[in-house]
Amino acid sequence: MANVVRDPKEFPDAITPDLTQKNPLITFTKNDIAFVYGSKWKQRYFKKIGDDYYPFPAQWDFTHKMWRPYMVAPGTDWWVQYYPADNMKRPTGPLCDGCHSVNYDIQTKTVTEWNVGCEKCHGPGGDHVRTPSRSNIVNPTRLDTLEANDICIQCHSQGRPLKNPIEGKYYDWPVGYRAGLKLDDYWQLEEHKLGEASFTHFADGTAHKNRMQGNDFVESVMYTRGITCFSCHDVHGTANNADLLKPASVMCLECHGTNSPNGPHAASIETHTHHKAGSSGGECVACHMPQIEQTIADVMVRSHTFKFISPSTTGSLKTPNPCTGCHTDKSIQWANDQLKTWKGRSPWRVAN
Ligand code: HEC
Ligand code: HEC
Ligand code: HEC
Ligand code: HEC
Ligand code: HEC
Ligand code: HEC
Ligand code: HEC
Repeated sequence: MANVVRDPKEFPDAITPDLTQKNPLITFTKNDIAFVYGSKWKQRYFKKIGDDYYPFPAQWDFTHKMWRPYMVAPGTDWWVQYYPADNMKRPTGPLCDGCHSVNYDIQTKTVTEWNVGCEKCHGPGGDHVRTPSRSNIVNPTRLDTLEANDICIQCHSQGRPLKNPIEGKYYDWPVGYRAGLKLDDYWQLEEHKLGEASFTHFADGTAHKNRMQGNDFVESVMYTRGITCFSCHDVHGTANNADLLKPASVMCLECHGTNSPNGPHAASIETHTHHKAGSSGGECVACHMPQIEQTIADVMVRSHTFKFISPSTTGSLKTPNPCTGCHTDKSIQWANDQLKTWKGRSPWRVAN
């Protein structure tokens, strides 16, 4: 994973946009920035006051190469009601740093390292460095698959600590959890009510926001069959987008195929997808991981429930479906009519 958090004095290239260009949103200069967060979708900037950091009210949108305001609005994140409507009163310690550093200590407000370091996934490593042995380090592949997934879900989820406030402050990360423990002793995934759309969820329960891969994945059949986040991703880094073990078009076929018990159950891949091989509409991710979860403005990341969201679900519950999400000139009725002709697919599931 990339180094999201960087001190611009140490890494002068960390700040992507040109701060000297006139823009009413930029109320700060390079010298005011103690920390920069983000390098892929969005970048945010932090001021140090005492031993806390606070976000400036502007963020850089990488996709559109433009500034946008940054101020978490009322009625969005659950914690907003507990903090004043002023970024300079919203410290990163309780609200961000547990997920963007290793060993954030809530008493001393210190970290052993910024960013997602080894110990965040492998547990304390001091003894292991002194006397390397299998018994004094957490290897996620040797944990049971639920605890292994918890390691990723601790950061890739929307939720709240079971105990809050903690010493008078509301935290937005699983204080006390570390790799190898059970995350649900510390953390509750954000609840959703079926039929109700919220800041975090669509009305059918699919995530609506970024950083919800964990909330989504626990809903999937693959999760219940012992697949883990690292069945598909290698977090130590790969040459593929999103640190995938193989490019997305190849990845799924490592375990899936028409002769595989895992499905898809069809005579050929093309008879399953009803799109030509090589067509963007024939990629597994096109229908099973649509880009519908908002990270900034209209920039979306992929869902991780892996389920096919039917066009009718868009009609009744407003969750976007992959068919008309891509065929933007077509109607839900059109998509349903197509799906009803797809042999082997239940019209009751996909077109009703
Ligand atoms: C974001 C979580 C995460 C971080 C950070 C991380 N690892 Fe891992 N590591 C894993 C997972 C998951 C596995 C098991 C699956 C795999 O090999 O990818 C693993 C496996 C390993 C293995 C065993 C490989 C094998 O062949 O058995 C070693 C060694 C390792 N990591 C070292 C490191 C070191 C050193 C760092 C820091 C530089 C680090 N890891 C950072 C999650 C992480
Ligand atoms: C300490 C918090 C933390 C943990 C634990 C963690 N992640 Fe992440 N992850 C992040 C952050 C922060 C980023 C954003 C990195 C960036 O901006 O490039 C990220 C990015 C990613 C990305 C996207 C990379 C890209 O270039 O698009 C993947 C995939 C990912 N993580 C998978 C995992 C998996 C799998 C695990 C468990 C083995 C895991 N993460 C554990 C915090 C975490
Ligand atoms: C529960 C863990 C968690 C908390 C709390 C958290 N983050 Fe993150 N953050 C992540 C993960 C995981 C990612 C990467 C994956 C994603 O965005 O879906 C990320 C991504 C980001 C990115 C975008 C990185 C990029 O390269 O585009 C920024 C900026 C960021 N976080 C800032 C913050 C700020 C500021 C706060 C506090 C207000 C915060 N985060 C709180 C886990 C967390
Ligand atoms: C079955 C394979 C698979 C599993 C399991 C899986 N992912 Fe992914 N993930 C993908 C694919 C495919 C992409 C899309 C990459 C692309 O668009 O090029 C992706 C994208 C991402 C991204 C980048 C955001 C985006 O949409 O571009 C993050 C972060 C991520 N996954 C984290 C996780 C975490 C955390 C888990 C476990 C809770 C997980 N993934 C489980 C296949 C998987
Ligand atoms: C490491 C192996 C593995 C990989 C990689 C993998 N899958 Fe799966 N997948 C499974 C298993 C196992 C099942 C459960 C099959 C069963 O029990 O019927 C499954 C089930 C599914 C299902 C059916 C779930 C349902 O709701 O009925 C879908 C859809 C799916 N996978 C999509 C994908 C996509 C898309 C990718 C690539 C991004 C992918 N899988 C990659 C192993 C994998
Ligand atoms: C054009 C859309 C589309 C594409 C592309 C697509 N699927 Fe599907 N897939 C569906 C639909 C529709 C269903 C049925 C969902 C249901 O019944 O709820 C389905 C169901 C499945 C199932 C469970 C049922 C079964 O037949 O086993 C698996 C597994 C699956 N797909 C895997 C894949 C894989 C792997 C790929 C990439 C090779 C892929 N799909 C590409 C639309 C698609
Ligand atoms: C990621 C984009 C994408 C997604 C998602 C997608 N398609 Fe397509 N679709 C295409 C492209 C590109 C073509 C033209 C090339 C081809 O035939 O594969 C196409 C062609 C078609 C055609 C034949 C051409 C025509 O207009 O007569 C039909 C019918 C169709 N798609 C239906 C669907 C349905 C139904 C779904 C949802 C299950 C779906 N598509 C999902 C991109 C997509």
